[in-house]
Formats: sequence, structure tokens, C-alpha cells
Amino acid sequence: MQVIVCENYDKMSREAAAVVANQLKKTPNSVLGLATGSTPVGMYEQLIRMCADGEISFAETVTYNLDEYYPLSPDHVQSYRFFMNRNLFDKVDINKANTHIPNGLAKDPDEEGDRYDKAVEAAGFIDLQVLGVGQNGHIGFNEPEEELYEGTHLTSLTQDTINANSRFFMKTSDVPTRAITMGMGSILKAKKILVLASGKNKHFVVSKMLSGRITTAVPATLLQTHRDVILICDKAAYEG
Ligand code: F6R
Repeated sequence: MQVIVCENYDKMSREAAAVVANQLKKTPNSVLGLATGSTPVGMYEQLIRMCADGEISFAETVTYNLDEYYPLSPDHVQSYRFFMNRNLFDKVDINKANTHIPNGLAKDPDEEGDRYDKAVEAAGFIDLQVLGVGQNGHIGFNEPEEELYEGTHLTSLTQDTINANSRFFMKTSDVPTRAITMGMGSILKAKKILVLASGKNKHFVVSKMLSGRITTAVPATLLQTHRDVILICDKAAYEG
């Protein structure tokens, strides 16, 4: 795992945006795997600026997001579809038809998981997967468990994650308790992975990711098995 430690969140976001920008310059029709949450927002801001400056274009880019709350409509302000439109897609030259997020209203979430995995495969798999990490080490919504799923599936959020995500909602009881998430197998099939971590509260998971040990109790440790991962974090996450 290549590790880049940046002074602060802003520098981390610029460094991460440069990785995505290089990918798009090299291969404009790349398939990107994208994440929501607060960590990648600064990187998305940089990408929006680069796109406005004509440095990069998303016109041919295809995206697949990691996850979506379930059940939740794409129009809901807390949905990940809404988040991605507001924080990236509405502000760059991407064709929305090329942006994909699991359907939070799917009648049959198992079928939706299969459909999503097949779509990623038909697209040639993900060229560059952007990831944030949960404080408990989750990746997507693959929460610490004895067994993890390979493919995209319906899952329940842990109380830790519900508490962490309650900052985006009026009250904790408004946080959906389930989500459809890409599985660890789907994520590890990406050709290259870019992991972002910012803040002291991510130190635990950063140290586990660099420990040389792998455990499903901290799903982010499985990233150590992938041969092309860049971790870009700030000093607070690295040093604790
Ligand atoms: C988001 C996602 C989550 C977040 C993680 C960190 O699509 O899958 O795994 O990356 O919860 O969230 P933040 O960045 O808000 O700390």
C-alpha cells in the first residue's frame, strides 16, 4: 500500500483530486467507483474546479457509487443519489445516464445487488475506486462482522455507524438502519483503489490498515490484499 500523509484536509483533498484527474486525463472513459460521506467532499470540490478550468472532463466517464440507504428514494435529501448530484454530478460535465447508484427503492434488494454487480462487470470493472473509511473500519457499508459478503447486498448498519451518520440527519432515529452496499469482493475487483482518511477519529482504522494484519473485524484491513492501493490521509489520521 502506498501511503501519502498530508499536512491537513485541504492538502489531502488536492492530492486525491490529482490522482483522479490523472486517471481521467489518461483514460477519459474511465469507470470510477465513488463514495459519499464528508471525507471526499473537498476532493470533489477540487475536481469541480479542474473541470471548470477545462483541465479535466467527465463527458465520457462512467461512475458507480458504493452504496445507498434502503429503503430511500433517490429524491430524498439524505439519499446518496441526492448527495452525489449536489456535490459532484450537477457541477461537472458528466452525462447523468452514466452515473450509477444502487436503487434504494428496489423491491428485491438481492436482485438489485446481482444487477449492480453484473452492470459493473459489463462496464469492464472499476478502473479507480475512491473510498472513505468508517471509524469502525467499515468500507462502503461492509460493517465489522465475522463473515463479509463478496457481492453487492442489503445490510444493516451498526449502531456505531448510525450514531456517526446522525450528524447528517435531524435526529438519530431518522437515520436509515439498512443500506445496499457493494461487497468487499466487488470493491477489491477494482483495478486501483484510492482510500482517503482525515481526522484523529480515523487513526484507529489507519493504523489497522497499515498493521500487516487482516481481519473482518476491521474490513478496511482487507485492502492490504490488493496490489494497487494508495492511502492518502492527513497527519491527524496518521499520527492520532
Ligand atoms: C460512503 C461510504 C462510507 C463512508 C464512511 C466514512 O459512500 O460508503 O463507508 O466512506 O462512513 O464516512 P465519512 O467520510 O463521513 O467519515
